[in-house]
Formats: sequence, C-alpha cells, structure tokens
Amino acid sequence: MNVDVRQRSLHDADAALVAVGLYEGEALPEDVAGAPGAADAKGSYKAMTRLYPGGPERLLVVGLGERDGLDAEKLRVLAALVAGEARRLEATSLAWAPPSFEDEEAAAEALVTGTILGAYRFDRFKGAGEDDEPKARLESLTLLGPAELAGAVETARVYSEAANRARDLQETPANFAKPEDLARRAEEIAAGNDNVTVEILDGDAIRAKGMGGIAAVSQGGPVEPRLIVLRYRGGGSGPTLGFVGKGVTFDTGGIGLKPSAGMQEMKFDMSGASAVLEATAAIAELGLPVDLVTVVPSTENMPSGTAVKPGDVITQYNGKTVEVNNTDAEGRLILADALAYAIELGAERVVDLATLTGAVLIALGSTYAAVISNDDELAGELSAAGEETGELVWRLPLHPEYAEMMKGTVADLSNLAKKREAGSITAASFLREFVDDTPWAHVDIAGTAWNVNRAYTGKGGSGYGVRLLVQLVRDLVE
Ligand code: BES
Ligand code: MN
Ligand code: ZN
Repeated sequence: MNVDVRQRSLHDADAALVAVGLYEGEALPEDVAGAPGAADAKGSYKAMTRLYPGGPERLLVVGLGERDGLDAEKLRVLAALVAGEARRLEATSLAWAPPSFEDEEAAAEALVTGTILGAYRFDRFKGAGEDDEPKARLESLTLLGPAELAGAVETARVYSEAANRARDLQETPANFAKPEDLARRAEEIAAGNDNVTVEILDGDAIRAKGMGGIAAVSQGGPVEPRLIVLRYRGGGSGPTLGFVGKGVTFDTGGIGLKPSAGMQEMKFDMSGASAVLEATAAIAELGLPVDLVTVVPSTENMPSGTAVKPGDVITQYNGKTVEVNNTDAEGRLILADALAYAIELGAERVVDLATLTGAVLIALGSTYAAVISNDDELAGELSAAGEETGELVWRLPLHPEYAEMMKGTVADLSNLAKKREAGSITAASFLREFVDDTPWAHVDIAGTAWNVNRAYTGKGGSGYGVRLLVQLVRDLVE
C-alpha cells in the first residue's frame, strides 16, 4: 500500500474516502460541522457516520469513545473498521485525519498498521470475479498531518507489510509452502538487503551435522528438510540477538496421526518461521542497529514406513539423547537442534516463536501468547513490546518439577511429559535443555497465530510475532 503524510484540510484530502475521528461528547472540526447529517454523528467508540459534504469524496466520522480511554490498540481496531468500510465502498484511496492524541507518532503508527492489516486478503487461489468480493482494493492511505509524522508512518508501513507477508506464507497451503519454499523466501530477503546473508542446510547437511531432531521428524516423508539461517548485521552496541521459528510446513502428527477433523489447519504449523523470517526482513529494511541471527528448522511431519516411531531414541545437535515418545511432539525436536545451533552461531539472547502446544489455547485462548523464559529482563521486554503492539504475551513459569517431567527412561530426555498437565510449560522445559544459560524466551503462538478474530487480523493467519519482534528490537536500540 502507498502510504504518505500530507498537511491538508479535510476538503482537500483528495481521496475516495476521508475518515475523521470524533471523541465522545466533543464537537466535529468546524469545516465539517456544517455538513448535512453532521449533527447525527456519534462519538461513541466504533460508531460510524457517513457524510457527503459536497464534492466527490465521502466523509466518515469515526467514534473514538472517551478521550481518556483511547489508546493505540483501539486506533488499530478503528483503522481496520474503516478499511472494511473502504472495501465495501470500493474506495481505492483513503485519507485519515489523525485525532489529537498525546503521542501523535504512536497514533499515526496505529492508523497505518490497522489500515494495512485490516485491508489484507489472501486471494492467490481465488478465480477473478468468482464470488461477490469487491473488485477494487485500497491502494493508498494519506495521513492528514504534519510532515514530522513521515518517519513513524514509514516505519509502520514497513513492519505492517512484513506482517502481511508472513500471513501470505502462513496461508499458503502445504503443497505450495514446503521447506524449500521457506528457504527461497529467506534467499529473497537476503538478496534484497546488503546487510543480510543467508545460509541453507539441506537434508544431507542436516544429517551430516548431527541435527537428529530435524532428521527424525523429516524421515517420514519424501520432502527434504531445510535449516535456514539469516544473518543481519546492523551493528549497534548490544548483544547478538537470536530468533528461532518453528517451520513445520505440515504437521500430520506422524505415526501418532492427528484426527482428520481440522487437520488442514496444520498448514499453519510454520507460523513461527514466517514470523521470524519477515520480522528479520523488516528489521533489516528499517536498518535498526542490531546484530541478528535467525534460524528456522523446516520440515513436514509425515507417517510412513520410514517415519520415526514411538520409543525411538535420537541424538540432538548438542549431544543430548531423546526418546521420541510421541511423534506429534515434533516441534520441540526440531527447535532443540535450532536453538543449540543459533547459540553456536553467536546468538547471545534468543527468542523462539512456535505453534508448539494445543495446551496454550486452553490456557490463554487467542488473546495472549505464552512466554516462558529463563531471563526476567527478556521476558519483561517481550511483555512491554506486546503491550505496545497488541501482540500480547503472558508469562508462565519454569520450575525444576516441570523439568523433572521431561526426563527419559532410557535416554536423557523424553519429548513427552510424564503427565498431561502443564503441557505448554513442560514443552518449554524441554527446550530449555538446549539453551544452557543463554538468556532465552520461548513464545508459544499456537493460540495467536491464526483465527484471532480481532478487527485487524480477522480469520486465518494473523502474522502474530512480526510486530512483536520488531518492537522488541526498536525498544532495545532506542
Ligand atoms: N503443532 C502442534 C500444536 C498445535 C495444536 C498448534 C493445535 C495449534 C493448534 C504440535 O506439534 C503438537 O502436536 N503438539 C501436541 C504435543 C503433545 C503430543 C505433547 C499437542 O499440543 O497436542
Ligand atoms: Mn505435532
Ligand atoms: Zn506441530
């Protein structure tokens, strides 16, 4: 989407749809207060009143609610609702007069983000004109405000479009999004930025290196796994950050096959991978001063005569042995190799994103992701970034009693806890065995990666994590 900032009045906005906010109990700006119907405009939160003040454009008065209650999240939601209105009107251009707000840059970012995310559709496989979808798409957004907002607006455009690219990867079905396709996307990202390099390990290299988790999960099917490494050298004085993302391009459960109802959702089991790849792209595009190493282990999880079997013992990249007691607990096996590898490559603080456990949906639903961490500072930074972006995280604890539940009978560890309880925490306790004392935070996004149903994420892939990770880095370097 084209996004810009122009200091213009509502009447000169030159857009098919012009949105202007109205606080509850306050008056409309003078230049529109006289328009026919303006007296009926309501300021209650989410109220929408359409006015035709004369001239080609339509004016949309958007209720902001109480002045004291407005925040960035509410603005993102309103912007998405307005994008929906633009869509119904088949408006290709939109102008927004940002409301007066204590942090004008934050308001501008929220409007840009809500508009870009709200206007998103995945229509790669839809025939043109096959349904009653409007044909016109929103192509441009103009913020009617001072030129000083241009930086914030551009930043928001970059990370919001990155989030939409992550959604494209998520939505792409598993017959089009294979490990090699994620690798190709990583290569594109590296080709597009001088400060980004890429390295891809194929199946032979993965097996030769002793990455027994990725090897085991991938051995059930003919599709070869990939281990994808992106490095961004942005400099700065801080420690090297590591991002790791689960890239299971389809999770059937393996020999422990999942029930068929709903199994199609398991194309989304690479949501962590899409988030860390596109967050890396956005951080590089923004030129943020940080050194970053991003590692994505990617494979399918398939059943067959060659598949890993319950009880098989594998050796992970760091030398620990693991009993595979449930072939559907495959995410932790591939992440274990990737975490150890990221640290070997120089990551000094690591964040992993993974659709790891169904249990997190039971605990937190689609509102918060779970963060489980060995480091209070990193956990706190993620929580702050979550509040700022609306990609919320809630911390769950670690404890030696959970770690005890992951001990193996004949091997060092089991990939399945001795009891079902605390499933998200026991999964994280397993991962912890592969980071030693490196500050690390695991974000379980199984509840937030799709079907979040917030106005600006809708159904389907949410792109969760892209904005969270970009914000984490922005907060670290500012
Ligand atoms: N990819 C799934 C987790 C998942 C489930 C994500 C539902 C989104 C929605 C993961 O690989 C998995 O199968 N986890 C198992 C672990 C169990 C066997 C210990 C689970 O959560 O049931
Ligand atoms: Mn699984
Ligand atoms: Zn999985």
